[in-house]
Amino acid sequence: MGAGNRRDFLKLIAASAPSLALAPPRAWGSLAPSHWRTPATIERYVDPLPILRPLPPIETRGKTVRYRVRMVEFEKQLHAQLPPTRLWGYEGQYPGPVLEARRGTPVEVEWKNDLPLRHIFPIDPNIHGAMPPAPQVRTVPHLHGSRTPSDSDGLPEKWFTPGQSSLYRYPNQQQAATLWYHDHALGITRLNVYAGLSGFYLLRDEQELDMNLPSGPYEIPLLLQDRTLDSEGRLLYAPTNEDGTTAPQGVWAPEFFGELPVVNGAIYPFLEVEPRRYRLRVLNGANSRFFSLYLNLAQRPTDIPSIVTFHQIGSDGGLLASPAEIDRLLLGPAERADLLVDFSALEGKIVTLSNNASSPYPGWAMLVQQHPPLSELMQFRVTLPLSRMGKSFSLPSPVSVPRFDPSQSVATRDFVLTERMDAQGKSLGVRINNKDYDDPLTELPRLDSLEKWRFINMTDDAHPMHVHLVQFQILERRGFDTGAFVQGRLQFVGAPRPPAPSESGWKDTAVVNPADVLTILVRFEGYTGRYVYHCHMLEHEDNDMMRPYEVVSAAQEQPHAAGA
Ligand code: C2O
Ligand code: CU
Repeated sequence: MGAGNRRDFLKLIAASAPSLALAPPRAWGSLAPSHWRTPATIERYVDPLPILRPLPPIETRGKTVRYRVRMVEFEKQLHAQLPPTRLWGYEGQYPGPVLEARRGTPVEVEWKNDLPLRHIFPIDPNIHGAMPPAPQVRTVPHLHGSRTPSDSDGLPEKWFTPGQSSLYRYPNQQQAATLWYHDHALGITRLNVYAGLSGFYLLRDEQELDMNLPSGPYEIPLLLQDRTLDSEGRLLYAPTNEDGTTAPQGVWAPEFFGELPVVNGAIYPFLEVEPRRYRLRVLNGANSRFFSLYLNLAQRPTDIPSIVTFHQIGSDGGLLASPAEIDRLLLGPAERADLLVDFSALEGKIVTLSNNASSPYPGWAMLVQQHPPLSELMQFRVTLPLSRMGKSFSLPSPVSVPRFDPSQSVATRDFVLTERMDAQGKSLGVRINNKDYDDPLTELPRLDSLEKWRFINMTDDAHPMHVHLVQFQILERRGFDTGAFVQGRLQFVGAPRPPAPSESGWKDTAVVNPADVLTILVRFEGYTGRYVYHCHMLEHEDNDMMRPYEVVSAAQEQPHAAGA
């Protein structure tokens, strides 16, 4: 049986039989085929990269395209030499199926929770939102990067339980972009996403479709994650403290770093490509891990790297004004990059997608234990013949990305990021402006207004800060004196650093380094109502580096102003 057949082995467990989830873990011992190994001894690059398929809609009614997406528990091999792993997935797939959408064509999704009543992972009942009597299994999907009305945004507290569903409507009134959907349930987002609940949502528009970009088999979405498996192939969620120690089962800790790279649901996969241009839509879907990616022709990780340059053509929210030629790409959790890689001069070669981001990132704090990096993620083998039908694909033509004018900003809001430690130096949680998620609303930007949001990082780690509803622009990053800040003064150090060309487009998530201020320009367009902003390291988001905000209309704002 070929690796492909084995990988196709996929068993849906009937969601109507939650008792199955309570079945004791299987002992593979006597049953295990002799080729099964442990995660520590598996070979790299034996599985082909799973190609993510679009989900067919259930109907088109008027202008609206409707999907039904069920969340179910199932089993799938993540590697040909490992037994199947129990997972949660949208439509029984990990990653979830690709939702394809067109600008201007609304999509409705009936999200149905068909999961068992018992969670795959132990839940920390001390985390806000996960305290009893909250049921173990709660889900709420969020379409990350989309401009969606509040009631379809998937707010963390709008979770629903097995047997329930929610109908969400996505207007798709925004430019083409690599969006993604993932679970967002309050206090257990890290566990739900880790179990498998994430997938791509590719929004397309005429402008982009006219550009002769690589499409069909030459457009490859890549979901990058890291996972740890036990010796029987079961997913292990083992987050770590700052000192590198693993938290006891079921106890929150500030970071999770998996031991194995998982790309599109396969461990160390390979992809055979033709010697031509490909479009890679890369998403960092990891819980905590940053990736600093490069393409390497060297055979072994210990060889001197031989770097292949590539073009970044888009960021989180759509195409860049013009392609940026780069040889390295930093992606914090939830960030996306739209890449064009030209394999045409590389016939017969093997290109390894490599990573050397430290974990935690950026790893400047000497006292913080570093975890081994995942130095390789997957291989591209330039072994397919150039298909005769194939035309050649171009780089995108320049597009206009209007720059927000900082002088038009009507408000500057500061968000101080801190970590609370106990006497032993163990993290008790991370906060924005020292507030919990449930504390009263403090940010009420006015619809259509432009604001400056400054994220001031007083912690040792970088944080990928995400704002729902909007696509923003990075104005600058700038160092500051943390000592002076403790005394109450924001004293900058060094000159402001404008974003690199690859970060100069639309963003919904941006990284703020330790002792840095990240300033973004945000226009609150689209809808009034309740949204959230948060760090997208899922461990941080869950405890409790997340806050609500509310977009208000000019009329709504009056009473506040009058009362003030
Ligand atoms: Cu990826 Cu609050 O979201
Ligand atoms: Cu964070």
